[in-house]
Amino acid sequence: MSIQIDLSSDVAVVTGGGSGIGEGIATMLAEAGAKVAIADLSAEAAKSVAEQITSKGGTAIGVEFNIADPASIEQGLAQVREQFGPVSVLVNNAAAWAIKKFADTSAEEAQKVVDVTLLGTINVMRAALPDLLETQGRIVNVASDSARTGEHSMSVYAGAKAGVIGVTKSLAKEVGRKGVRANVVAPGTTVTPGSSGFIDSVGGADKLAKAYPLGRLGTPADIAGAVVFLASPLSTWITGQVLSVSGGFTMV
Ligand SMILES: NC(=O)c1ccc[n+]([C@@H]2O[C@H](COP(=O)([O-])OP(=O)(O)OC[C@H]3O[C@@H](n4cnc5c(N)ncnc54)[C@H](O)[C@@H]3O)[C@@H](O)[C@H]2O)c1
Repeated sequence: MSIQIDLSSDVAVVTGGGSGIGEGIATMLAEAGAKVAIADLSAEAAKSVAEQITSKGGTAIGVEFNIADPASIEQGLAQVREQFGPVSVLVNNAAAWAIKKFADTSAEEAQKVVDVTLLGTINVMRAALPDLLETQGRIVNVASDSARTGEHSMSVYAGAKAGVIGVTKSLAKEVGRKGVRANVVAPGTTVTPGSSGFIDSVGGADKLAKAYPLGRLGTPADIAGAVVFLASPLSTWITGQVLSVSGGFTMV
Protein backbone atom coordinates (compact mmCIF):
# COMPACT_ATOMS: atom_id res chain seq x y z
CA MET A 1 0.00 0.00 0.00
CA SER A 2 1.14 3.54 -0.60
CA ILE A 3 -0.34 7.02 -0.51
CA GLN A 4 0.12 9.18 -3.57
CA ILE A 5 -0.90 12.77 -4.22
CA ASP A 6 -2.72 12.77 -7.54
CA LEU A 7 -3.76 16.19 -8.84
CA SER A 8 -4.14 15.03 -12.43
CA SER A 9 -7.70 16.35 -12.67
CA ASP A 10 -6.66 19.80 -11.44
CA VAL A 11 -5.92 23.06 -13.23
CA ALA A 12 -3.61 25.19 -11.09
CA VAL A 13 -2.68 28.86 -11.34
CA VAL A 14 0.43 30.01 -9.48
CA THR A 15 0.92 33.78 -9.41
CA GLY A 16 4.55 34.84 -9.26
CA GLY A 17 5.42 31.35 -10.49
CA GLY A 18 8.35 32.63 -12.53
CA SER A 19 10.84 32.69 -9.65
CA GLY A 20 11.69 31.43 -6.17
CA ILE A 21 8.88 29.98 -4.06
CA GLY A 22 6.32 30.25 -6.87
CA GLU A 23 8.59 28.33 -9.22
CA GLY A 24 9.00 25.61 -6.58
CA ILE A 25 5.22 25.43 -6.07
CA ALA A 26 4.47 25.28 -9.81
CA THR A 27 7.04 22.53 -10.28
CA MET A 28 5.72 20.38 -7.42
CA LEU A 29 2.07 20.83 -8.49
CA ALA A 30 3.09 19.63 -11.96
CA GLU A 31 4.95 16.67 -10.41
CA ALA A 32 1.64 15.78 -8.69
CA GLY A 33 0.01 15.73 -12.14
CA ALA A 34 -1.77 19.11 -12.23
CA LYS A 35 -1.92 21.22 -15.36
CA VAL A 36 -0.15 24.37 -14.23
CA ALA A 37 -0.35 27.97 -15.42
CA ILE A 38 2.65 30.00 -14.32
CA ALA A 39 1.19 33.50 -14.02
CA ASP A 40 3.92 36.11 -13.71
CA LEU A 41 4.60 39.77 -14.36
CA SER A 42 7.58 38.56 -16.37
CA ALA A 43 6.28 36.69 -19.42
CA GLU A 44 9.82 35.48 -20.06
CA ALA A 45 10.24 33.98 -16.57
CA ALA A 46 6.80 32.35 -16.76
CA LYS A 47 7.60 30.80 -20.13
CA SER A 48 10.99 29.57 -18.96
CA VAL A 49 9.53 27.79 -15.88
CA ALA A 50 6.76 26.30 -18.05
CA GLU A 51 9.40 24.99 -20.48
CA GLN A 52 11.40 23.43 -17.64
CA ILE A 53 8.26 21.64 -16.43
CA THR A 54 7.21 20.40 -19.87
CA SER A 55 10.75 19.22 -20.62
CA LYS A 56 10.40 16.90 -17.61
CA GLY A 57 7.04 15.53 -18.82
CA GLY A 58 4.69 17.88 -16.92
CA THR A 59 1.94 20.07 -18.36
CA ALA A 60 2.42 23.82 -18.00
CA ILE A 61 1.96 27.15 -19.73
CA GLY A 62 3.45 30.56 -19.00
CA VAL A 63 0.98 33.44 -18.80
CA GLU A 64 1.84 37.13 -18.53
CA PHE A 65 -0.11 38.33 -15.52
CA ASN A 66 -0.06 41.45 -13.36
CA ILE A 67 -2.00 40.84 -10.14
CA ALA A 68 -2.19 44.60 -9.54
CA ASP A 69 -4.19 45.10 -12.77
CA PRO A 70 -7.74 43.65 -12.89
CA ALA A 71 -7.78 43.70 -16.73
CA SER A 72 -4.54 41.69 -16.84
CA ILE A 73 -5.98 39.18 -14.33
CA GLU A 74 -9.08 38.68 -16.53
CA GLN A 75 -6.97 38.26 -19.68
CA GLY A 76 -4.63 35.81 -17.98
CA LEU A 77 -7.45 33.70 -16.54
CA ALA A 78 -9.21 33.65 -19.93
CA GLN A 79 -6.02 32.21 -21.43
CA VAL A 80 -5.86 29.52 -18.72
CA ARG A 81 -9.52 28.55 -19.24
CA GLU A 82 -9.02 28.35 -22.99
CA GLN A 83 -5.98 26.07 -22.68
CA PHE A 84 -6.88 23.95 -19.64
CA GLY A 85 -10.48 24.69 -18.50
CA PRO A 86 -11.68 26.23 -15.23
CA VAL A 87 -9.21 26.81 -12.40
CA SER A 88 -9.44 24.36 -9.49
CA VAL A 89 -6.27 25.25 -7.54
CA LEU A 90 -5.37 28.90 -7.04
CA VAL A 91 -2.04 29.73 -5.41
CA ASN A 92 -1.64 33.44 -4.71
CA ASN A 93 2.10 33.75 -4.30
CA ALA A 94 3.05 37.04 -6.04
CA ALA A 95 3.68 39.99 -3.73
CA ALA A 96 5.63 43.23 -3.44
CA TRP A 97 7.78 44.42 -0.56
CA ALA A 98 10.35 47.03 0.40
CA ILE A 99 12.90 46.88 3.17
CA LYS A 100 12.50 50.24 4.79
CA LYS A 101 11.83 51.60 8.24
CA PHE A 102 8.22 52.64 8.72
CA ALA A 103 9.20 56.27 9.33
CA ASP A 104 11.01 56.40 5.96
CA THR A 105 8.21 54.81 3.92
CA SER A 106 6.38 57.19 1.59
CA ALA A 107 2.65 57.05 0.93
CA GLU A 108 3.40 55.93 -2.65
CA GLU A 109 5.66 53.09 -1.48
CA ALA A 110 3.06 51.92 1.04
CA GLN A 111 0.35 52.07 -1.63
CA LYS A 112 2.36 49.89 -4.02
CA VAL A 113 2.97 47.18 -1.42
CA VAL A 114 -0.71 47.09 -0.42
CA ASP A 115 -1.91 47.27 -4.06
CA VAL A 116 0.11 44.22 -5.09
CA THR A 117 0.32 42.13 -1.93
CA LEU A 118 -3.19 42.55 -0.52
CA LEU A 119 -5.44 44.00 -3.22
CA GLY A 120 -3.78 41.94 -5.95
CA THR A 121 -4.44 38.74 -4.01
CA ILE A 122 -8.04 39.81 -3.34
CA ASN A 123 -8.65 40.62 -7.01
CA VAL A 124 -7.22 37.34 -8.29
CA MET A 125 -9.46 35.46 -5.82
CA ARG A 126 -12.51 37.51 -6.92
CA ALA A 127 -11.82 36.81 -10.59
CA ALA A 128 -11.19 33.07 -10.09
CA LEU A 129 -14.01 32.43 -7.61
CA PRO A 130 -16.64 31.36 -10.21
CA ASP A 131 -14.20 28.69 -11.45
CA LEU A 132 -13.40 27.55 -7.92
CA LEU A 133 -17.11 27.24 -7.07
CA GLU A 134 -17.65 25.22 -10.25
CA THR A 135 -14.70 22.90 -9.57
CA GLN A 136 -14.97 22.64 -5.75
CA GLY A 137 -11.53 24.20 -5.79
CA ARG A 138 -8.87 25.10 -3.29
CA ILE A 139 -7.12 28.38 -2.61
CA VAL A 140 -3.68 28.44 -1.02
CA ASN A 141 -2.37 31.91 -0.28
CA VAL A 142 1.28 32.49 0.44
CA ALA A 143 1.53 35.03 3.26
CA SER A 144 4.54 35.39 5.54
CA ASP A 145 5.45 34.65 9.12
CA SER A 146 6.10 38.40 9.40
CA ALA A 147 2.30 38.83 9.49
CA ARG A 148 2.24 36.82 12.71
CA THR A 149 5.46 37.96 14.38
CA GLY A 150 6.11 41.44 12.94
CA GLU A 151 9.30 42.21 11.01
CA HIS A 152 11.70 45.11 11.39
CA SER A 153 11.73 47.39 8.30
CA MET A 154 8.88 45.48 6.63
CA SER A 155 5.84 46.92 8.45
CA VAL A 156 3.62 47.67 5.46
CA TYR A 157 4.36 44.29 3.90
CA ALA A 158 3.67 42.49 7.19
CA GLY A 159 0.39 44.41 7.47
CA ALA A 160 -0.61 43.55 3.90
CA LYS A 161 0.15 39.87 4.55
CA ALA A 162 -1.91 40.01 7.77
CA GLY A 163 -4.70 41.33 5.54
CA VAL A 164 -4.27 38.30 3.25
CA ILE A 165 -4.72 36.05 6.29
CA GLY A 166 -7.91 37.88 7.36
CA VAL A 167 -9.46 37.76 3.89
CA THR A 168 -8.59 34.09 3.45
CA LYS A 169 -10.16 33.07 6.76
CA SER A 170 -13.31 35.09 6.01
CA LEU A 171 -13.66 33.69 2.50
CA ALA A 172 -13.15 30.17 3.90
CA LYS A 173 -16.23 30.76 6.09
CA GLU A 174 -18.29 31.99 3.12
CA VAL A 175 -17.48 29.23 0.65
CA GLY A 176 -16.87 26.17 2.83
CA ARG A 177 -20.39 24.80 2.38
CA LYS A 178 -20.02 25.25 -1.36
CA GLY A 179 -17.06 22.87 -1.35
CA VAL A 180 -14.22 25.39 -1.64
CA ARG A 181 -11.34 25.42 0.85
CA ALA A 182 -8.99 28.34 1.47
CA ASN A 183 -5.80 28.22 3.54
CA VAL A 184 -2.60 30.16 4.05
CA VAL A 185 1.02 29.06 4.09
CA ALA A 186 3.25 31.45 6.03
CA PRO A 187 6.89 30.95 5.06
CA GLY A 188 9.85 31.90 7.19
CA THR A 189 12.97 33.12 5.41
CA THR A 190 13.38 31.05 2.27
CA VAL A 191 16.36 31.36 -0.03
CA THR A 192 15.10 32.87 -3.31
CA PRO A 193 16.11 35.70 -5.65
CA GLY A 194 13.50 37.84 -3.87
CA SER A 195 14.83 37.33 -0.34
CA SER A 196 18.52 38.09 -0.90
CA GLY A 197 18.15 41.77 0.08
CA PHE A 198 16.44 40.84 3.34
CA ILE A 199 18.97 38.11 4.16
CA ASP A 200 21.85 40.55 3.55
CA SER A 201 20.15 43.21 5.67
CA VAL A 202 20.15 40.93 8.72
CA GLY A 203 23.77 39.79 8.41
CA GLY A 204 23.62 36.86 6.00
CA ALA A 205 22.15 33.37 5.75
CA ASP A 206 24.49 31.64 8.25
CA LYS A 207 23.77 34.16 10.99
CA LEU A 208 20.02 34.09 10.36
CA ALA A 209 19.87 30.28 10.26
CA LYS A 210 21.03 30.18 13.89
CA ALA A 211 17.63 31.58 14.91
CA TYR A 212 15.83 28.63 13.32
CA PRO A 213 15.22 25.53 15.49
CA LEU A 214 15.79 23.29 12.46
CA GLY A 215 19.10 25.09 11.87
CA ARG A 216 18.67 26.27 8.31
CA LEU A 217 16.69 28.64 6.09
CA GLY A 218 13.93 27.34 3.83
CA THR A 219 14.00 26.22 0.22
CA PRO A 220 11.20 26.72 -2.31
CA ALA A 221 10.54 22.95 -2.13
CA ASP A 222 9.96 23.24 1.66
CA ILE A 223 7.15 25.72 1.02
CA ALA A 224 5.83 23.84 -2.02
CA GLY A 225 5.30 20.66 0.02
CA ALA A 226 2.89 22.47 2.34
CA VAL A 227 1.07 24.13 -0.56
CA VAL A 228 0.62 20.84 -2.43
CA PHE A 229 -0.67 19.20 0.77
CA LEU A 230 -3.26 21.98 1.24
CA ALA A 231 -4.30 21.68 -2.42
CA SER A 232 -4.64 17.90 -2.19
CA PRO A 233 -7.23 15.42 -0.94
CA LEU A 234 -4.97 14.79 2.09
CA SER A 235 -6.32 18.01 3.63
CA THR A 236 -10.07 17.75 2.91
CA TRP A 237 -11.09 18.83 6.43
CA ILE A 238 -8.69 21.76 6.69
CA THR A 239 -9.84 25.28 5.83
CA GLY A 240 -9.21 28.79 7.10
CA GLN A 241 -5.87 27.78 8.61
CA VAL A 242 -2.46 29.43 8.62
CA LEU A 243 0.42 26.97 8.42
CA SER A 244 3.82 28.38 9.32
CA VAL A 245 6.51 26.71 7.26
CA SER A 246 9.56 28.13 8.93
CA GLY A 247 11.78 25.47 10.42
CA GLY A 248 10.14 26.04 13.80
CA PHE A 249 10.96 29.77 13.90
CA THR A 250 7.32 30.60 14.58
CA MET A 251 5.42 28.30 16.90
CA VAL A 252 1.82 29.44 17.39
N1 LIG B 1 11.55 34.29 0.27
C1 LIG B 1 11.19 34.50 1.53
O1 LIG B 1 12.00 34.51 2.48
C2 LIG B 1 9.73 34.70 1.86
C3 LIG B 1 9.34 34.68 3.22
C4 LIG B 1 8.00 34.87 3.51
C5 LIG B 1 7.08 35.05 2.50
N2 LIG B 1 7.48 35.07 1.21
C6 LIG B 1 6.48 35.25 0.17
O2 LIG B 1 6.64 34.26 -0.82
C7 LIG B 1 6.22 34.76 -2.08
C8 LIG B 1 7.29 34.54 -3.12
O3 LIG B 1 8.49 35.18 -2.72
P1 LIG B 1 9.91 34.87 -3.40
O4 LIG B 1 10.92 35.09 -2.37
O5 LIG B 1 9.83 33.57 -4.11
O6 LIG B 1 9.99 36.08 -4.46
P2 LIG B 1 10.74 36.22 -5.87
O7 LIG B 1 11.05 37.66 -6.00
O8 LIG B 1 11.87 35.25 -6.00
O9 LIG B 1 9.60 35.85 -6.92
C9 LIG B 1 8.45 36.64 -7.01
C10 LIG B 1 7.83 36.47 -8.40
O10 LIG B 1 6.62 37.23 -8.41
C11 LIG B 1 6.53 37.95 -9.63
N3 LIG B 1 5.69 39.14 -9.43
C12 LIG B 1 6.02 40.28 -8.76
N4 LIG B 1 5.00 41.15 -8.85
C13 LIG B 1 4.02 40.56 -9.57
C14 LIG B 1 2.73 40.97 -10.02
N5 LIG B 1 2.27 42.20 -9.75
N6 LIG B 1 1.98 40.10 -10.73
C15 LIG B 1 2.46 38.86 -11.03
N7 LIG B 1 3.68 38.43 -10.67
C16 LIG B 1 4.45 39.27 -9.94
C17 LIG B 1 7.98 38.31 -9.96
O11 LIG B 1 8.13 38.59 -11.35
C18 LIG B 1 8.71 37.03 -9.53
O12 LIG B 1 8.78 36.09 -10.60
C19 LIG B 1 5.84 36.22 -1.83
O13 LIG B 1 4.46 36.31 -1.57
C20 LIG B 1 6.61 36.57 -0.57
O14 LIG B 1 6.02 37.63 0.12
C21 LIG B 1 8.80 34.91 0.86
